Amino acid sequence: MSNIKNVAVIGAGVIGTGWIIRALAHNKKVIAYDKDIKLKNKLILEIKRTWPYVKKLFNKKKLNLKNFKYVISIKEALKDADFIQECVTENYAIKTKLMNVIGKYAKKNAIISSSSSGLLPTRIYSKCKNPRRTMIGHPFNPVYMCPGVEIVPGKKTKKNFLKKASKFYESISMNPIMVKKELPGYLADRLQEALWREALHIVNEGYANTEDLDRAIEDGPGLRWSLMGVFLTYHLAGGSAGMKHMLEQFGPALKLPWTKLKAPKLSKKLSSRVIKGTRKQAKGKSVEKISNIRDEYLVSLLKMRKKFETKLK
Ligand SMILES: NC(=O)c1ccc[n+]([C@@H]2O[C@H](COP(=O)([O-])OP(=O)(O)OC[C@H]3O[C@@H](n4cnc5c(N)ncnc54)[C@H](O)[C@@H]3O)[C@@H](O)[C@H]2O)c1
Repeated sequence: MSNIKNVAVIGAGVIGTGWIIRALAHNKKVIAYDKDIKLKNKLILEIKRTWPYVKKLFNKKKLNLKNFKYVISIKEALKDADFIQECVTENYAIKTKLMNVIGKYAKKNAIISSSSSGLLPTRIYSKCKNPRRTMIGHPFNPVYMCPGVEIVPGKKTKKNFLKKASKFYESISMNPIMVKKELPGYLADRLQEALWREALHIVNEGYANTEDLDRAIEDGPGLRWSLMGVFLTYHLAGGSAGMKHMLEQFGPALKLPWTKLKAPKLSKKLSSRVIKGTRKQAKGKSVEKISNIRDEYLVSLLKMRKKFETKLK
């Protein structure tokens, strides 16, 4: 159980909005701040767009917008917050400067968590007062649907704050993954980027287009990955001897894909192939329209996954 009720979301772009929606759906009081002081109406529209899906996923009846406040002063946003979720632009200089300000105005025992997708917490919080209560809480887009959050400690983070943060994330229906110590890119993004790097090589070298590569994931590994990750999946690929046979049989052949490690150059030609390819895949549908389709799909998938997850426990 978490007794955290008041949440401040600093930075209200794609990810900040996702946190606001998830926290509101779990009856938290949410106060948001962004340097762009005109975001309030856009936020309300996005909360309303997503609510039909969020409501279904978390079995909620009513959206209580009274629990939401948008302020134009960071000091006011932090005044009563027990939990601060930072979601500003991914950049060391911006985040380090901001964490200095957050440290100044945050309540004494408030937890400060950054949504960063790969920056090192010790560096982001190097100018923050009391770094013992600071960490990364890296979510996945859309935050209001995906239950994953990677908690990454900095060198000075204290365990009791990590535990409190974990309880808080659980209280908003998330499944925290505790990373033992900081590393650039954390866990899931390291995996995602490795996959993307290989896909970019393939597009660059002209073996397939973006749609073919997306289909290769959607119709194969992607179907399994939402229930089992890469290790358990490969355990099954080895027959009754499991991973042992998998490594003995495929290990030598995997040397090539395992060693093509350098990133391809993001040349004009490659960027253009990727942009044109994905535009064609969107078939004229807006990002909002595709997001609605994705959200409806995720609600059904997550509800169904629950039934199967318990069988694997
Ligand atoms: N987009 C993703 O898929 C994703 C997934 C997980 C984590 N993240 C992380 O979340 C964070 C935010 O990413 P995003 O995609 O929401 O970016 P975004 O560009 O959509 O939003 C960033 C917001 O931060 C605001 N901002 C910038 N500097 C500020 C400051 N000093 N004070 C207050 N507000 C400020 C901007 O006005 C903007 O509204 C990043 O650290 C990113 O790595 C992103």
